[in-house]
Amino acid sequence: MSDPNATHAHANPAHCTTARGNRVRWLGVAMVALLATPCALVWAQQVNPDETGHEPVQTREALARAKPVTAKHAMVVSAQHLATLVGVDILKRGGNAVDAAVAVGFAEAVVHPCCGNIGGGGFMTIHLKDGRNLFLNFREKAPAKATPTMFQDADGNVVDGRSTDTYLGVGVPGTVMGFATALKAYGTMSLQEVIAPAIKLAREGYILKQGDVDSLDSRTSDFAEHANVAAIFLNHGKPFKVGERLVQKDLAHTLELIAKGGTKAFYEGSIAHTVVKASDANGGILSLQDFADYTAQWEKPIQCQYHGYTVVSAPPPSSGGTTLCLILQIIEPYPLAKWGYGSVNSVHYLVEAERRAFADRNTYLGDPAFVHNPIDRLLSDEHAAELRATILPDKATPSSEIKGSLGAPEGNHTTHYSVVDKDGNAVAVTYTINFLFGNKQIAGDTGFFLNDEMDDFTAKPGVANGAGLVQGVVNQVEPGKRPLSSMTPTIVLRQGKPFMLTGSPGSATIISSTLESFLNVVEFGMNMQQAVNAPRLHQQWYPDVVYAGEGLLTPKSQQTLEAMGYTFKRFSGGAVEAILINPETGVLEGANDPRRPAGLAAGY
Ligand code: GLY
Repeated sequence: MSDPNATHAHANPAHCTTARGNRVRWLGVAMVALLATPCALVWAQQVNPDETGHEPVQTREALARAKPVTAKHAMVVSAQHLATLVGVDILKRGGNAVDAAVAVGFAEAVVHPCCGNIGGGGFMTIHLKDGRNLFLNFREKAPAKATPTMFQDADGNVVDGRSTDTYLGVGVPGTVMGFATALKAYGTMSLQEVIAPAIKLAREGYILKQGDVDSLDSRTSDFAEHANVAAIFLNHGKPFKVGERLVQKDLAHTLELIAKGGTKAFYEGSIAHTVVKASDANGGILSLQDFADYTAQWEKPIQCQYHGYTVVSAPPPSSGGTTLCLILQIIEPYPLAKWGYGSVNSVHYLVEAERRAFADRNTYLGDPAFVHNPIDRLLSDEHAAELRATILPDKATPSSEIKGSLGAPEGNHTTHYSVVDKDGNAVAVTYTINFLFGNKQIAGDTGFFLNDEMDDFTAKPGVANGAGLVQGVVNQVEPGKRPLSSMTPTIVLRQGKPFMLTGSPGSATIISSTLESFLNVVEFGMNMQQAVNAPRLHQQWYPDVVYAGEGLLTPKSQQTLEAMGYTFKRFSGGAVEAILINPETGVLEGANDPRRPAGLAAGY
């Protein structure tokens, strides 16, 4: 990589124009998706970037004191303490990281119902002790009857709420197929064994903590709208309180069916029948054939190098790994460590790299089974150099001068967890039902919330979808297609061995949260807990604003950056659940994000 200071010599407006022009030419054909929506519209439609976010105060003093949980052999970190303990128990009983990851995933479907799921889908990144890096895609698929205009009315206007609150928003769920596929290929335990703890938690119930209640409280009025939902998630019509027990008998029964009948029970048996019946009764288009046709798929993970670390992450249909790697490749030559965390220079160059990478993300990425993703070109050294050369040393680049499509942040409706076992197998999982509690509906007596993942598609090119995202035709709805995701389950290797597992919820902010958890360690010398706790920043091209956590910037730094042309907005940003394997000692350092107070890092 070139001398960082040399990049400044290229960073003048004239060069900027030329470089951008070249870039537009080489990607010209793919630009058919370019969108015309004015930024003002995006602003007007964007949702709260952190609907359920807690922003624990992280003064520099508090940050300096933060310490990770340590363990010698194995570790699990998830957004819900009971799910973490399920995983640790599986590992102690001799299960490997895949067994534990699947057990945690089913447990989270019970104890983290906003986000953990069997009604949604996700991705699993695996590093096996023999050195193999694997990636499992169990993202939801659009039903066969889906069409590019299904979220528009007869006049072509996007219908508010159709992709988020109705059965039309439900993609064919992938989680059960994904977990069963991973377990069969690389686990050592049976489906019955790894589901058993989840069944017990659902049948006997669990005591709610403040973090659990906070997430349930955010949907009280939605739960009240459907009798079968209210019967479970309201306590005699009232919101649950801390210390009360949440019992989910329907979900326990559904999980028992899966434990006994495997994927057939879900995709061909009574569960599929109940979901399709509810879909039919409520204007949906899901069919039994959609369930029977569902497949999870092994893909080649995205890999890139950063200062000697190998980053292994999510390929399309997630944008996560590609965008993460593109940002890393742009910033690699800059002396971030010398500049320091939260410094004017670090913030400036990170923000400008994110702005450019997100412009590409929103324009060029979609389900590779349907559209070509120009990954090699996006992740080439030449492309990173070209984008780097457009960054002005002392000035923000207005997003309007960067080409691509538009987007805005969503809330934290997803969940991530990380598992390392005693043999060095490592599994990072991010899965989701999209919005908090998905489409807020449960089919009949199945007991699980259905996703509204169809909202991650382009509702209409040039118009924000329900989540505020405006994307291109490469991500338009098509039968059997998987919507573009930002989920970024990531394993970082050092000399071929796992160094860090990280990932986050938060839609587009997943990518910056994951990125910063890594940079905070390798550039800014933080331990894993500090890296997770630290206030974050996020820029995603449009809106042309920088999201910054409280305490990231000193008033003076903020003033300097504002004078350079930046506008700041407060956010909390994601919820990273990470593990660092100390390369010198081999000790595992786990960090639950304090933005998820019900979460836990634990090991043995
Ligand atoms: N539903 C959020 C994501 O996949 O990015």
